Parts: sequence; C-alpha cells; structure tokens
Amino acid sequence: MSDLRDQVMRALSTVIEPELHRDIVSLNMVRDLTIEGSTARFTLMLTTPACPLKHVFEKRCNEAVIGVVPGIHQLEIKWDSDVPTDRRLQGRLDVPMRSIIAVASGKGGVGKSTVSTNLAVALAESGAKVGLIDGDILNPNVPQMTGLGTGRPQVADGMMLPLEAYGVKIMSTGFLTDPSKPLILRGPMLHGAIRQLFTDVAWGNLDYMIVDLPPGTGDAPLSLAQSFPLTGVIIVTQPQEVAVSDALRSIAMFETLNVPIIGVVENMAGDFFGEGGGEQLAQVRNVPFLGRIPLNAEVRKGGDFGRPIVVTDPNNPAGEAFRTLAQNTAARISVVMLQTADVIPLNIIG
Ligand SMILES: Nc1ncnc2c1ncn2[C@@H]1O[C@H](COP(=O)(O)OP(=O)(O)O)[C@@H](O)[C@H]1O
Ligand SMILES: [Mg+2]
Repeated sequence: MSDLRDQVMRALSTVIEPELHRDIVSLNMVRDLTIEGSTARFTLMLTTPACPLKHVFEKRCNEAVIGVVPGIHQLEIKWDSDVPTDRRLQGRLDVPMRSIIAVASGKGGVGKSTVSTNLAVALAESGAKVGLIDGDILNPNVPQMTGLGTGRPQVADGMMLPLEAYGVKIMSTGFLTDPSKPLILRGPMLHGAIRQLFTDVAWGNLDYMIVDLPPGTGDAPLSLAQSFPLTGVIIVTQPQEVAVSDALRSIAMFETLNVPIIGVVENMAGDFFGEGGGEQLAQVRNVPFLGRIPLNAEVRKGGDFGRPIVVTDPNNPAGEAFRTLAQNTAARISVVMLQTADVIPLNIIG
C-alpha cells in the first residue's frame, strides 16, 4: 500500500507548477495523500487562494497518475492555500503581514485607488486575508471608494482598529481628519504618517497588504519603500502616450529602490484613451503585463458610491477584468517571492 503511495507521489512529481517552474512535489504542494481502493486523495496547497490554475492542475495531475499508476482510477483533490511570507518583513513589523504590495503610477487620475480597491476586494473574495492602506495621505480616496465615508476607527490598547468593508481591513488618514480641510504635512511628517498606518493599527494576520500610493515619484513612494521592504509594486497606467511615459519614470524609480515590479496594469482602455500603451510598456521594460481594465461608467459609479464593481457587477467586462487582474497579480506575487533572493516562501518549501 505504501508502495502505491510512493508511486502516486512519483507520478505527481512530473507535474510542473507553470508559474514557479518546479514540480508540485518538491514545492511541497501535495499534502496528506491517502489511498482508498482505486482512489487517491490529497490536498493541493496553492500559493494563493486566488489561483487561476486549479483546472490546469487538476487536468495535469489526472494525466500524470491515471493510466500511469496501476490500480488508481480516480483522483480526489482538495484545495487549500498558504500565501508565502516575505521573509524580509519578519522582525521589521510587529504585525504578521506576509506581503506588502504598493500600487503606483506616474500620472494622477489613472485609477490607482480604483485598482487598489477592486484588487483588494477581489483577493478577499477569493479567501485571502487582505488589508488596504490609503497611502495617498493628503488626498485620501479609499474611504469613499469603499463606502466607509467619514468612519472613525476605534482604539483598543493604544492601537487603532482598521475599518472593514467587503472583507478588507482598511485604514486611511481620511478616517482621522476633517475631509473638508486640507491636511498639510511636510516631508518628515508625511514619512511618519505613512509608517503609522502600518505600525499604529491592529491589522492582525494578513496575506496581502495593498498600499494605494499618490501619483508620481515624490516623497510618499520613497518613504514607503525606505520604511518597509516592499514585496513589489504594481504600476497603473492609462493607455495613452503621456501616461505611459510617466509610468516609465515610475518604474525606473522603483527599480532604483530595488523594489520588484509585479507588473503593469492598463486602466481605462477603450475608444477614448486608446488601447495597448500599458501592454507595450510592459514589453519594452520586460515586466509582466497584469491586465487591461476597460473604461466603463460602472467602474466610476462604483468608486463614487463606495460599491466596487467586483462586488456589484462581477460579470460586467470591467468586473471580470478586475477579477482576472487579481488572479494574475496573486500568481505573480508568488513568483516574485521565489525569485527575490532573500524572499523565500518558507511555509511552502518544506
Ligand atoms: N476603468 C475605469 N473606467 C471608468 N472610470 C474609471 C476607471 N478607473 C478609474 N475610474 C475613475 O477615474 C477617476 C480617477 O480614478 P482614481 O482611482 O481616483 O485614480 P488615482 O487614484 O490614480 O488618482 C475616478 O473617478 C474613478 O472612479
Ligand atoms: Mg488615488
């Protein structure tokens, strides 16, 4: 019997994880294999609950085992996930965050806050534990886009409790200040404010911390990248040339800061701004293209009314595009974690 288990394991070790380019057995993804009659049961531990490849894995596992290992006629796969931990974060923060993902752009108004919000909500819907920091300290938009308006955080044991919407834990300076009065902060105070959104908030366990940044290459992205080891950055751009050339500068800045580029998102694609600029940018800079979100009035309304389109209309082309974006992003984060020398998914590689 244990012989048969070995044979199934050996057969499964021919299945390659398509993103990580290693076999699923040496990645320690196959857990709790048992055999009953002609059925082999096991849990496949993915690096993200938002994995888009479940059906691919299922097909490949079946091809690897059925008809290859004598006596096994059926596989029963259970799915589970364990998001890798960015090892550089350990000891740097009291809170157990597994990854910190910044959302940046060269130009303002390209849809960073919209992408951050829909991405965070889509990841949470897939079952991940997600936080969202409104890093646009001076012009916080996340409260409105998540329907939390002028909510105020409660305080417990000297820590602020994050607010919650659509399964995402959220903190913004918008919850702490009068929205009609501008917040005026100089460089060092801005730096402190960004840090505090991490350190003075009781975040709890998080798989993904998404940070919505202000546009450009100014103080805020610098402060953030210097305060915390970022797992990576997502660059949002519109398709037209001026936006793309600004996005180029943004990519260059993060590369200088040694922050891995998770990939490029092209937002507001369509007749008005055109299409393809973001994808070309990704090609030229040799970074992944994560997806294209169409220009769509429902997206804008979702932002204005605090009801993200991934929740209200997930099958709308834009809603679907955001969900695909979340899957691609989660898959890429796993890859970045494996590629970055000192970032090892400890909890995955046994
Ligand atoms: N794909 C889209 N289709 C239509 N409107 C969008 C889309 N993405 C963003 N918007 C709208 O464009 C405006 C700017 O987006 P926002 O996310 O605030 O940009 P940023 O954070 O980069 O300044 C908002 O009103 C938002 O609702
Ligand atoms: Mg914004």
